[in-house]
Amino acid sequence: MTVTQDAATGAAVNQNPLRLKRIHHVEFWVGNAKQASFYYRKAFGFSQLAYRGLETGMRDAASYVLSQGKVRFVLTTALTPEHPAADHVKLHGDGVRDIALEVEDADFAFHEAVRRGATPVEEPHDLTDAGGSMRHASIRTYGDTIHSFISSKGYSGEFLPGFMPAPIAGTPTGIVMVDHMVGNVELGRMNQWAGWYQKVMGFSRYITFDDKDISTEYSALMSIVMSDDNKVVKFPINEPAEGKKKSQIQEYIEAYRGAGVQHVALLCGDAIETVTKLHENGVEFLRVPDSYYDELPARVGQIPEPIETLKRLGILVDRDDEGYLLQIFTKPVEDRPTVFYEIIQRKGCRGFGKGNFKALFVSIEQEQERRGNL
Ligand code: FE2
Repeated sequence: MTVTQDAATGAAVNQNPLRLKRIHHVEFWVGNAKQASFYYRKAFGFSQLAYRGLETGMRDAASYVLSQGKVRFVLTTALTPEHPAADHVKLHGDGVRDIALEVEDADFAFHEAVRRGATPVEEPHDLTDAGGSMRHASIRTYGDTIHSFISSKGYSGEFLPGFMPAPIAGTPTGIVMVDHMVGNVELGRMNQWAGWYQKVMGFSRYITFDDKDISTEYSALMSIVMSDDNKVVKFPINEPAEGKKKSQIQEYIEAYRGAGVQHVALLCGDAIETVTKLHENGVEFLRVPDSYYDELPARVGQIPEPIETLKRLGILVDRDDEGYLLQIFTKPVEDRPTVFYEIIQRKGCRGFGKGNFKALFVSIEQEQERRGNL
């Protein structure tokens, strides 16, 4: 096993001790999975892949599997008040329940994670149908969120055992894969959860942002980006910071009633094309003040994308010494001000858009003000 050093602390960390491969899927627990899946198909261009519910013998929940590029979303709703998704939705509203990770060996990953301090949720077990078996286990992370570990045992089906094929073609918008997934945790808990990812998953600290990087007059947050050594799985963790008024992270924590996933960043190959389609489909984005684009050439230098097009679409640009990135953030996609999406295109830059935080926060604060939450 290779040993590397944590970028921030210099401490030795084990490279990939759980033998993670990639994000297998993200499961949302929602109030109405049928309608949510329609939204993700029509607005984001996902295709429906598979389904599980009454028709497959599942009596207490229904799930729709959506796919675009390498992204797999599962939208699950409770069919009975006893199913745990019912209480989850009552407390949190719609949100991410499971960031499921594909691993070499789910048994090994689970036992190693627990040995390294993780709290178990489900012991390793087989999921089986006519197409064969997959191995599955899960552990807790922040809030009521879990990480499943999934490994294949030569399963030939479309998604996971228990789901039936239910194809509905969407019109793709160019989304390729999950770039990163951000968790919001309570004030004072960020370092603890960053430490958890280091201790349990062998992740290292990739970048840290403090409240000087990301604060406006009112709204501040702090963030640590934790990543596996291959930079395939990147989990930034935010906590609220003290400001004159309520941090956007605190607004989330109050609305979600605890820690949870704040946003899912979806990587695309051509942000102008993807964002054009998403606009046409009715996806609502945050907008920064127009003056942002006056200052852009001085901040990021010459880029091939026309500034006028970026301005019309509301796409943001940031640069580091390796290149630049294009990014844009949706408004929350449910009624509580909780989960939203980021669309990101990377042209060499491996950062997270630090140079855009201030402009964005002005826009976020305007939204918070309108909600009476500032
Ligand atoms: Fe992000």
